[in-house]
Amino acid sequence: MSTAVAPKLDIQKIRKDFPILEQKVNGKPLIYFDNAATTQKPKQVINAISEYYEGYNANIHRGLHSLAEKATTAFEDSRKVFQKFINAAEVEEVIFTKGTTDGINLIANAYGRKFLQEGDEILITAMEHHSNIVPWQMIAEEKGAILKVVPVNAKGEISLDDVEKLITDKTKIVSVVYASNSLGTVNPVKDIAKLAHAKNALMVVDGAQASSHCVVDVQNLDCDFYATSGHKMYGPTGCGILYGKRAILEEMTPYQGGGEMIDNVSFEKTTYNDIPYKFEAGTPNIADVVALKKAAEYIDAIGKDNIMAHEQALTQHAHERLSEVPGINFYGTAAEKVSVVSFTIDNVHPYDAGMMLDAKGIAVRTGHHCTQPLMDHFGIEGTIRASFSVYNTIEEIDFFADSLKDIVAKFS
Ligand code: ALA
Repeated sequence: MSTAVAPKLDIQKIRKDFPILEQKVNGKPLIYFDNAATTQKPKQVINAISEYYEGYNANIHRGLHSLAEKATTAFEDSRKVFQKFINAAEVEEVIFTKGTTDGINLIANAYGRKFLQEGDEILITAMEHHSNIVPWQMIAEEKGAILKVVPVNAKGEISLDDVEKLITDKTKIVSVVYASNSLGTVNPVKDIAKLAHAKNALMVVDGAQASSHCVVDVQNLDCDFYATSGHKMYGPTGCGILYGKRAILEEMTPYQGGGEMIDNVSFEKTTYNDIPYKFEAGTPNIADVVALKKAAEYIDAIGKDNIMAHEQALTQHAHERLSEVPGINFYGTAAEKVSVVSFTIDNVHPYDAGMMLDAKGIAVRTGHHCTQPLMDHFGIEGTIRASFSVYNTIEEIDFFADSLKDIVAKFS
């Protein structure tokens, strides 16, 4: 058995924070390896949601009564925690969204619609998930812009030389995933930002998969935007953040109208609120934003370095043990990767494997993982994907590897 487990973490103690992990699925203890789709939530996050609804549910920024003040303070505290969590220079640069998809759509619409022109280029990579492809396709079609794609190699990596060649004087936006949800590849987004800025293009980082697995320092990365989701970092579904540099956000025109984003409304003319509020139309997802703060605090309390070390040990062990499975083919063997192991097995359809694993209590994702063009590139329909989190163990991976061997034996 691998001994490469981060010594500082008491995983059994951490597991007790996640009530869902105590259950049995199909009569077997749950082994949850679908963390790239969504992580489980610690009770600190779950409790924060009920505390809000039981104790101080009120609309924010609108009322003067005590509950409204308490809700507003909790909501704005969450913004401050996230400013620190991603090291934004200013708290106003943090916008609450529904998640990464919402954040990227916001940039495409609020920046793209105003500033993109016919013939301009948007550069993405072949490993993007649909949220970082489709919004750009839609705005490119509307504005007559061109979408260009950086290829990936057999290991699931992109080359900076390719990026440099593909950024031209016409490139206005470069949008790259920090950590790939299908392959695990960690991209050199800081270096890509430098190449983008050298040609006056904006750098967008899709941080959906990165926020609990990678160091996120938006000033150090020098990205212009960073979009992420709460639910992939132990927070609730339906909330996330979009970071943008102040000067750029101020130039952008909101694309959703309604309460909160206005300064003054008359039938003749509406003026907009300041950032970040001009991008937060309507009553926001207050309960989940308040609970999201608890997720960031949870990560900080354990220590992101400790989480990353534990997940790296799990990933390394998984690669070692799964290599024993006859007919296995790995997709995504980049030198730098997060805790995602994607593979196919000769003569075993991913869906069959997924169902047989589920019967053993093991939850993995099978299919294209919202990255159909990437699957096309590899000439496959999909993979079996196991993705690990801080509460997973070496023993779970051993059981997983043995279960896969049993499945292969049944098929042969
Ligand atoms: N994009 C999510 C995943 O990787 C849903 O499964």
